[in-house]
Amino acid sequence: DWTAEHIVEELVQGVQEQVGEGKVLLGISGGVDSSTLALLLARAVGDRLTAVFIDHGLLRLGEREQVEAALTPLGVHLVTVDAREQFLGALAGVSDPEEKRKIIGREFIRAFEKEAREYGPFDFLAQGTLYPDVIESSGGEGAANIKSHHNVGGLPDDLAFKLVEPFRTLFKDEVRQIAALLGLPDHIRMRHPFPGPGLAIRILGDITPEKLDILKRVDDIFISGLREFRLYDSCSQALAVLTPIRSVGVMGDERTYSYTCALRAVSTDDFMTAEWARLPYDFLSTMSNRIVNQVHEINRVVYDITGKPPATIEWE
Ligand code: XMP
Repeated sequence: DWTAEHIVEELVQGVQEQVGEGKVLLGISGGVDSSTLALLLARAVGDRLTAVFIDHGLLRLGEREQVEAALTPLGVHLVTVDAREQFLGALAGVSDPEEKRKIIGREFIRAFEKEAREYGPFDFLAQGTLYPDVIESSGGEGAANIKSHHNVGGLPDDLAFKLVEPFRTLFKDEVRQIAALLGLPDHIRMRHPFPGPGLAIRILGDITPEKLDILKRVDDIFISGLREFRLYDSCSQALAVLTPIRSVGVMGDERTYSYTCALRAVSTDDFMTAEWARLPYDFLSTMSNRIVNQVHEINRVVYDITGKPPATIEWE
């Protein structure tokens, strides 16, 4: 019978049998799958697991600290890599969305490889592949997958690990139950999906440290607001976008010429199609006031009322 305790026992045993005395490398994204996998593997193989978390500078406010605070006390040997300069340098001046994804994918592999050599040699690479991923990749590329998602494929031959994928038979809600049992804090356990390229694809046009700083503050106000007003769990994903549009506004007696940001929240079962979330007007009004009061680089806030299709969830 499917109880979370049972399944954890079985998964731990399965990993121990597969891995033996080997060393395991895992990439941490900050999402629920890789975080839960880290906890499971730490339970199964202890410090023969090395979990690498690459901070590419495109994470949300406080995210790196949250992940560290969640995993380290529970026995995960976590290595955090500050690769912000590497990524921002490689992305400087790049505006095309697919080009951004390519660069981030490439730099990610480069950074990951470096850590694999530093802490290795490793026998195994762990991945948080879920059952729906297994189905999807056996079914070929769907028309809905029009953005190039990057993964830790493409590592060089001398880093050809055997894969450990304990979640291959599980669905997301099962992983969330396991996560609860393993002690993953709820704010990570119930977190909305967040794209691998992070805030890079939520800044339209080229990425600068200034724009990143603006977007992080806007995003934090919106996401914290959703949690505060108990609306976070009512939508499947919520995000803020920094547009390159600047428009005229007024602040006190002064004319301003500042950025427009967009807020987006969607409801969806499978992320292939989505409806825009009918967030209460009062809530949107509060968010708009907070954003323009606290983030002076923004003088206009818009809410995206487009479904998918024809829009996508992200703006890039
Ligand atoms: P779209 O924007 O295509 O997004 O409607 C569907 C889901 O996929 C996420 N997404 C990505 N995830 N790398 C990722 O890991 C990417 O490049 C990427 N692009 C979109 C998006 O956040 C949404 O959950």
